Amino acid sequence: MSNAKSFVVAVAGATGAVGREMLKTLEARRFPVSRLVALASKRSAGQKLPWKGGEVTIEELGPKSFEGVDIALFSAGASVSREYGPIAAKSGAVVIDNSSAWRMDAECPLVVPEVNMSAAAKRPKGIIANPNCSTIQMVVALKPLHDAARIKHIIVSTYQATSGKGQAAVVDLMEQARAALDDKPITPSVFPGQIAFNVICDWKAGEADYSEEEWKMVHETRKIMGDDAIGVSPTTVRVPVVNGHSESIHVQFHRAMKAEEAKSLLRNAEGVVLMDDAYAPGKHPQPAHASGTDPVYVGRVRDDIAVPGALNLFVVADNLRKGAALNAVQIAERLFA
Ligand SMILES: NC(=O)c1ccc[n+]([C@@H]2O[C@H](COP(=O)([O-])OP(=O)(O)OC[C@H]3O[C@@H](n4cnc5c(N)ncnc54)[C@H](OP(=O)(O)O)[C@@H]3O)[C@@H](O)[C@H]2O)c1
Repeated sequence: MSNAKSFVVAVAGATGAVGREMLKTLEARRFPVSRLVALASKRSAGQKLPWKGGEVTIEELGPKSFEGVDIALFSAGASVSREYGPIAAKSGAVVIDNSSAWRMDAECPLVVPEVNMSAAAKRPKGIIANPNCSTIQMVVALKPLHDAARIKHIIVSTYQATSGKGQAAVVDLMEQARAALDDKPITPSVFPGQIAFNVICDWKAGEADYSEEEWKMVHETRKIMGDDAIGVSPTTVRVPVVNGHSESIHVQFHRAMKAEEAKSLLRNAEGVVLMDDAYAPGKHPQPAHASGTDPVYVGRVRDDIAVPGALNLFVVADNLRKGAALNAVQIAERLFA
């Protein structure tokens, strides 16, 4: 470490949707950064990003980028993390990685500070993985309930924003929406079809007819909660929202839980805002309100009307913040600041 009070921080993928949020989050939370190293591909080298009232110049990511770096925050995709994560760790940085590269590696902790911060202490590879955005907001909402009544089965359907697929996906939504409104043909560039005024199930195939994104929710939930017996039945869907993921969650427990008990647990849960009177029109959790904010919003907490002792909830959070950048910075804060 450069010195005890402030840190050299590298952000790999600084020009991306998550990377830009990472810079804003470090600044807003006054993380003690003595020097910021903003890294991206050759395409962006020399460009500038706003940083602390001035600018930081983007450097091309390379094998020497991590010399003297204390904390390396990665959000440049899985192949970049696979190649450069170990290089950064070897040069002495603690790596916090947003990609899927290391999440299921037995030697890399998968951490959500409100849920399993203690796991971050054991990191033989020097790499801590940040979970998938949909998983993070779900486990923040469910962990207090799991602690009280142990979860048996989760059925979750997501309504995921386009920013979850990166900046280019947001541009695709905007261009498609413009074309649709102008009555012009829609030509998708990131999505496999029309996303404007439409919804698309996640398309990257995984095993057994479930998408990769769906399997992430299964495996990551079990690893973070430390309970391989939790059943997770996911359906992941992209919706024409710019930013902020929503989830409809049905949850069954080993002992019955009533909505009133769940609400009292969630009212005091770290990182959660319970929207208790959520049936007032327009007052339930929604991405338009959650975007640009830190909490995980939980609302529509209801006793299931068909399965006694089970609950239904609606959970919304900013996928770029709690789903990525904020979670990574919170890990760094708890480790160092
Ligand atoms: N978006 C989310 O909500 C979210 C949530 C959780 C996790 N993640 C994960 O975070 C990562 C980044 O996602 P994103 O949404 O920010 O994507 P993005 O907007 O497409 O940004 C990608 C970033 O990676 C950089 N990059 C790409 N190839 C590179 C290379 N070969 N060398 C160096 N830099 C390279 C890009 O730099 P250039 O500008 O130079 O191309 C850009 O800064 C992904 O692994 C994603 O799965 C995203």
